[in-house]
Amino acid sequence: MPIDESPRKSEPAILSDIVFPEHTNAYGTMFGGHAYAMMDKAAFLAANRFAHTLAVTASSESIDFTVPIRAGMILEVVAKVINAGRTSMVVQVVLTARDPLSTFEEQATVGYFTMVAVDETGRPIEIPKLLIEDEAEWRHAEQIRAAAKARSERRNDVARLAVESK
Ligand SMILES: CC(C)(COP(=O)(O)OP(=O)(O)OC[C@H]1O[C@@H](n2cnc3c(N)ncnc32)[C@H](O)[C@@H]1OP(=O)(O)O)[C@@H](O)C(=O)NCCC(=O)NCCS
Repeated sequence: MPIDESPRKSEPAILSDIVFPEHTNAYGTMFGGHAYAMMDKAAFLAANRFAHTLAVTASSESIDFTVPIRAGMILEVVAKVINAGRTSMVVQVVLTARDPLSTFEEQATVGYFTMVAVDETGRPIEIPKLLIEDEAEWRHAEQIRAAAKARSERRNDVARLAVESK
């Protein structure tokens, strides 16, 4: 299918859930891995909503778990594409926990996922251009992108050195 050349707005994807005891540790607070899985899923939904393709998680950056989340809390995960390259998207994901019996809610986790649009065979494919609505978000995502690239280059250097030293 030909790529639509006109820049496209990104719309948030939202996931909601309740923290059940099977997703908590011995202290009754939520496992980070469960929060991460929800955030990754929301990142996929946001990427799909933007690019209308399949997408895989290439990397995640700066996932900050700032407050513990108790069993019984209601979670809301909001994910949004904030930067797009040729085939990849940086998705900002914010997880908020809400007390079901009061108006209390707090932002518990923020993270950035790089999702790559792929075809049915798993090969990267081109995505639409993103209409930039927030310059600060875009610049922040550029830093996330640079950090992922630096890590990837470091990994390649280590692999090359390992081969050369054999
Ligand atoms: C992600 C994947 C499709 C990239 O394939 P690739 O052949 O390395 O692709 P390319 O080198 O052409 O890079 C494609 C895009 O991905 C980006 N990318 C690749 N690896 C990346 C990484 N580790 N972190 C961030 N971005 C990455 C590139 O910058 C490029 O972006 P751009 O097109 O917007 O400029 C491939 O590495 C893969 O399938 N990984 C496994 C994904 C997966 O299974 N995830 C679930 C884990 S449980």
